[in-house]
Amino acid sequence: MSEKKKYYITTPIYYPSAKLHIGNTYTTVAADALARFKRLTGYDVMLLTGSDEHGQKIQRKAEEKGVTPKEYVDEIVAGIKDLWKMMNISYDKFIRTTDDYHEKSVQKIVEKLYEQGDIYKGSYEGWYCTPCESFWTETQLVDGKCPDCGRPVERAKEEAYFFKTSKYADRLIKYIEDHPSFIQPESRKNEMLNNFLRPGLEDLCISRTSFDWGIRAPFDEKHVIYVWIDALLNYISALGYGTENDELFKKYWPCDVHLIGKDILRFHTIYWPIILMALGIELPKQVFGHGWLLVDGGKMSKSKGNVVDPVVLINEFGTDPVRYYLLHEIPFGSDGLFNNEIFIKKINSDLANDLGNLVSRTAAMVEKYFDGVIPAPTEKEAIDDELITLAIETPKKIEKHIDNLKIPEALDEIWNLIRRSNKYIDETTPWILARDESKKARLGTVLYNLIESLRIASTLLSAFLPETSEKINKQLNIELTTWDSLFSFDGTRSGSKIEKGEVIFPRIDVDEKLEVLNKIKEEQVKATQHENIKPIKDEITIDDFDKLDLRVVKVLACEPVKKSNKLLKLKVDLAGEQRQVVSGIAKYYKPDDLIGKYVVLVANLKPVKLRGEISQGMILAAATDDDSKLFTVSIPGQLPTGSQVK
Ligand code: ME8
Ligand code: MG
Repeated sequence: MSEKKKYYITTPIYYPSAKLHIGNTYTTVAADALARFKRLTGYDVMLLTGSDEHGQKIQRKAEEKGVTPKEYVDEIVAGIKDLWKMMNISYDKFIRTTDDYHEKSVQKIVEKLYEQGDIYKGSYEGWYCTPCESFWTETQLVDGKCPDCGRPVERAKEEAYFFKTSKYADRLIKYIEDHPSFIQPESRKNEMLNNFLRPGLEDLCISRTSFDWGIRAPFDEKHVIYVWIDALLNYISALGYGTENDELFKKYWPCDVHLIGKDILRFHTIYWPIILMALGIELPKQVFGHGWLLVDGGKMSKSKGNVVDPVVLINEFGTDPVRYYLLHEIPFGSDGLFNNEIFIKKINSDLANDLGNLVSRTAAMVEKYFDGVIPAPTEKEAIDDELITLAIETPKKIEKHIDNLKIPEALDEIWNLIRRSNKYIDETTPWILARDESKKARLGTVLYNLIESLRIASTLLSAFLPETSEKINKQLNIELTTWDSLFSFDGTRSGSKIEKGEVIFPRIDVDEKLEVLNKIKEEQVKATQHENIKPIKDEITIDDFDKLDLRVVKVLACEPVKKSNKLLKLKVDLAGEQRQVVSGIAKYYKPDDLIGKYVVLVANLKPVKLRGEISQGMILAAATDDDSKLFTVSIPGQLPTGSQVK
């Protein structure tokens, strides 16, 4: 027997820092469909998913909740696994980066890189926020302050280890150029080359000393390995690389496709291949960066409370409608919209009308005209040819789409067959044939053909909507569901009995369900608003407050800071004294909007230079957590400038 062909596909490993939303679910459902399809066509598949559990973010979340990081992640990871069960994700392995074998493998790998001279000690220089224990680069600062907490930062240096990524940059550029399908879609490849690689790659800082929830560097116990290095290595540690038993690694590597969202493409197409090059390991065949799932009004964000919860949708509609929407309605590779109304209407049109009706009409006719016994196809007519040809050509078309990761197109092919079958009913009018006893053999053939084409459709559908496929098979007593059986139109066994069951997709009252979903959304927005409010800072005394000197100033002039799209440079009047203030509000105000306004200035803040411009104080503003909205604090009347705000 010849050995089966291998297919190794991965999803990102998710941060257990919040409940997963429909956007995260998207990658995993897509990977699952690809994996299931490959299994159907005879591949030996390894589908890997998991959780990315280390790092400062997780440590802090755990602290906020007053539990250990491990306790914190354990609970969320259990929820992730439940969600994958609900979504019918057929993963072969779930890796947790806190798994012992992973930690050991990571240590072994970085040790090797250290010993071969690819990791060296240096120092990391940047802006440091002490309360947050985090480093920031100049461009990450907002208004010259910590983008996380808004507090002042100081210049700092931290001892750190670096990975010599620069050494491999040229080799990687050449590799990407020589392997056009390595980064997909094509457009993202140019972005990586032109924005990151060609301008010159800096060595990557790969260790931290400012927190400890991570894997210890074996060559220096004070350091933990940067969470992204830890995370990327999951793709090989899961296969046992760097452990005693690396059979799976030998069997499945190189990876056929890393499926990820476009926001993490840089890590997967620059740092990941470089790590592999340094280890002397073959590169993955492909990294595919899909687009964003948007909701009306833009990106989903926790602070806006507009995050779509897959569990709510599954509870209301079932798993397969959600899978269908994700797989079919979002162009794979581009951004796509999640919209409740389109979602419900698609269930009605594609699932209830096209597919559901076909199944129930077919089953009902076999029951009515043949007492539920599948008839034999004894009387073919020319009119059958088109349906038969389409049915047996469909599997290959889908296989080709799947090989090109064209998932919506693959589903289109199944629906072509479904719609063609519905049309076949209209063409052959079985209810008219049924009136004439002499047409019984022909009627039987028509019904056989319908069941046979549903057998092919349902088998193909098993990769995308597994639960639905099972229901169809059960109702029509479909037994033969192998790939090879899809290429000839005779896999249905005449004489076997079918059992019409429940309607697979009941029609939905659009307005009624929309109202339900809107109610849930409203509650969710309220809940997240409450949940997301930043904790009130530690108490201060009036003396602490008195240290701040807040004054009314009038904006005299305002212009953008050169080469910055965040900063505005303001000239303000403070009781006759002119000051220059640089403020990160360019996104919210055109320079002219501010001139003549009376705003509040922190007047005794130590001056700093931002983008080469001196800033003598700070303008007070109120902003949402995600910075989508911001307003300066302004004085509604005309107070003399220099007046104190107290
Ligand atoms: O990035 N639409 O984890 P993560 C589509 N731990 N995809 C979305 C999305 C949206 N609205 N929002 C998020 C991480 N995603 C790392 C991965 S892999 C070695 C380490 C996708 O939980 C996002 O693009 O923040 C990413 O692919 C995945 O969800 C996990 O995001
Ligand atoms: Mg992310």
